[in-house]
Amino acid sequence: MKFIKVEVSSNIATITLNRPDALNALNNDLIVEIGASISELDKDDEVHGIIITGSGEKAFAAGADIKGFPELDEVSGKALSQSGHHVFNQIENLSKPVIAAVNGYALGGGLELAMACHLRIASENAVFGMPETKLGLIPGYGGTQRLVHLIGKAKAMEYILTAEMMDAPTAANLGLVNSVAPSGLLIEASRDMLYKIAKRGPLAVSKAIESINASVNPEIDGFELEMKFFGELLASSECKEGVAAFIEKRKPVFRK
Ligand code: HXC
Repeated sequence: MKFIKVEVSSNIATITLNRPDALNALNNDLIVEIGASISELDKDDEVHGIIITGSGEKAFAAGADIKGFPELDEVSGKALSQSGHHVFNQIENLSKPVIAAVNGYALGGGLELAMACHLRIASENAVFGMPETKLGLIPGYGGTQRLVHLIGKAKAMEYILTAEMMDAPTAANLGLVNSVAPSGLLIEASRDMLYKIAKRGPLAVSKAIESINASVNPEIDGFELEMKFFGELLASSECKEGVAAFIEKRKPVFRK
């Protein structure tokens, strides 16, 4: 991989966006690399969860690579947007939990990437924003939709129209991030959250992700899906183990 680093340790994969000199700006090749590594990690049974973070101390990602914009026209601009949508949807629909460990600026496409992850933990120095209208653009990697889902229409409208940035405590208050960690403890906090999830039933976790995602997908009846998955899970060996462990007053063993 040219623009990202991928490491796996203790069953957790870390994808590090690796263009620190450009504040990890997302060019299309970088996004394609994320998609390829996500596909690989999804197939790897040793990987129980994924962290996406930025290299350097200043940025998670300061947006799409603006320096590539002058060569784009209407058709290639739409194709760029579609390419990002494809990969970000892939992240959002992954059956394993994905956490964005936001270590600095998460702007524009950077924030859109973080919002496609299932959970977000911010370092105390993180800064969030949608500055696209300053460039005469709108968010193009799902931001007009996911920001509304996360913080509500009124605040999403405000932040996208004004292009104002927000600090980590504000992001936490608005529900944009799950929690804020001291800078030096960001990765540890993200790993701890993934270890906690890894102790739960992996099939249940994947069905929970799919059901929760259905709540913001107008093409799927999330209530129907929940009932279907609940029945399927009740009949699963995973649930039999979880229930037996409760009755026998022991910890469940979900992973061999
Ligand atoms: C390309 C970028 C970049 C970006 C920063 N850099 N952001 N390069 N694309 N999005 C580069 C700078 O050009 C500079 O390199 C180096 O990173 C350091 O950035 P500075 O600006 O010198 O740092 P600083 O003064 O600290 O300011 C930090 C910043 C600012 C506030 C984050 O860089 C900034 O405003 N960046 C742009 C943020 C933005 O508008 N993002 C939205 C992009 S549009 P050089 O070599 O020049 O010194 C978007 C659309 C997504 O994301 C959808 C697409 C389909």
